[in-house]
Amino acid sequence: SSEELFRRTAEAKRALGDRVMILGHNYQRDEVIEHADFRGDSLLLSKLAAERSERPYIVFCGVHFMAETADILSRSQQTVILPDMAAGCSMADMAAIEQVDQCWETLGRILPVEETVMPAVYVNSAAVLKAFCGEHGGITCTSSNARAVIEWSWARREKILFFPDEHLGRNTANKMGLPREQMIVWDPFQPNGGNTREAIQRAKLILWKGHCSVHQMFQPVHIDNFRKQFPDGKVIVHPECHEDVVNKADLSGSTEFIIKTVTAAPAGTAWAVGTELNLVNRLKRDLTDKKVFFLSSTVCQCATMFRIDGAHLCWAMENLADGHVVNHIVVPDEDKRWAKIALDRMMSVS
Ligand code: 13P
Ligand code: SF4
Repeated sequence: SSEELFRRTAEAKRALGDRVMILGHNYQRDEVIEHADFRGDSLLLSKLAAERSERPYIVFCGVHFMAETADILSRSQQTVILPDMAAGCSMADMAAIEQVDQCWETLGRILPVEETVMPAVYVNSAAVLKAFCGEHGGITCTSSNARAVIEWSWARREKILFFPDEHLGRNTANKMGLPREQMIVWDPFQPNGGNTREAIQRAKLILWKGHCSVHQMFQPVHIDNFRKQFPDGKVIVHPECHEDVVNKADLSGSTEFIIKTVTAAPAGTAWAVGTELNLVNRLKRDLTDKKVFFLSSTVCQCATMFRIDGAHLCWAMENLADGHVVNHIVVPDEDKRWAKIALDRMMSVS
């Protein structure tokens, strides 16, 4: 039963004491997040992994790329555990290193790529892609610092190759006033990414054709429907949503920004929130002085975040308490070294 799982996990955690730190992403289920020592967005959790060096074990309740980032940023004697190895991210899977290498090579036939193009990778990506950025002078970003990272990149090179999320890149550049004709989309399955040489030469932002399957479900019509019902209500969404949704919303930002903003809003206000369902349901439950709604009428749940459940967490914790490390996340040393360079550049601008 769920009470039994809760009790057993709490018991294993007690037995491990200061040796373990449980990190939980804002999208995690209630039954998991209630055991977390810290919860937050990708940036906050990365910072915690980097700073809290005293605990030898990090149990990461989130998705694979987040656990990899924790392994890259944590001290070498720390061990990162992901309770379910199948907790991936469909967006991260939309850019493979072979495709990015090929894109870089193609750009290199058109431009002096190393001097003119800054690779900027969203943390929702495999460690090897972060390593690619580190090696080519580039940087990583999260939804909380994309603007600072884009500014940093343009201050150094004329163009940015932004991957794998087309929407975070476009929404950030829209807010910075970049004209549309200076943004192109790179489709890895098309020759030249589906662009003419002239368009590539003119572009200041090359956006990889990748998206989040959860956030793509939010539509502008959902905002229209909410506004009809609540003309004074506010709409807040994650920047992984399509630009038509972000442009219509009142505010956009990372999961942590969304939680802080709605929590701090005056009592009695109405909010439609466009991000993962677990997060919105918790806001709804905790902020009883406000009217909180899920932006879409259809369920938008991140299936891979959802894989981490009470049973997987209990299994990982009980094994650890018995001295067995299960689901150890290990980024190979060579990738780790370069990926850390890209992540450190991000940390210094955010
Ligand atoms: P945050 O960094 O805003 O928490 O976003 C992570 C994520 O995967 C959103 O889909
Ligand atoms: Fe990946 Fe989207 Fe899930 Fe975030 S919500 S982890 S981007 S699939």
